[in-house]
Amino acid sequence: MKTNILGLPVKESEEMVKELNILLANFQVYYQNLRGIHWNIRGKRFFELHVKFEELYTDSQLKIDLIAERVLTVGGTPLHTFEDYISENKLKVGKNISKDEKAVQLIVDSLTDLLKIERVILEKSDEINDEGTNSMMSDFIAEQEKTIWMMQAWLENDL
Ligand SMILES: [Fe+2]
Repeated sequence: MKTNILGLPVKESEEMVKELNILLANFQVYYQNLRGIHWNIRGKRFFELHVKFEELYTDSQLKIDLIAERVLTVGGTPLHTFEDYISENKLKVGKNISKDEKAVQLIVDSLTDLLKIERVILEKSDEINDEGTNSMMSDFIAEQEKTIWMMQAWLENDL
């Protein structure tokens, strides 16, 4: 088996780059979804949600950088154009959302779709002992699952 400078199999690592780039593209759409709701949110919960959405997009910006730099670390080139992001996108694009429930639901839907992509990477990286990618996915998954729980709790009708 041919291995690269990291000791990982060459062919499978190229596959990993493709999957990581798909995640990168989808994260950029998630990020832009968050910017959209940060800007357009209206109503009595404006101050609370405007700040929360900023917290989430700031966090996803950091994750986007981690994904892109992981692509480079395993020997690939990160996607960086809007054109590529759109062509790889699997997420719902939120447009002109100003209602709080719809905004929070968009976050849940985006995270659910990101989790699907991350679980594919989790499995493939496990198969080739790519611990760097694998542990990154574990961290992302656990964090996003917790965010989904909190968003779902927020979405529940008055108890
Ligand atoms: Fe802002």
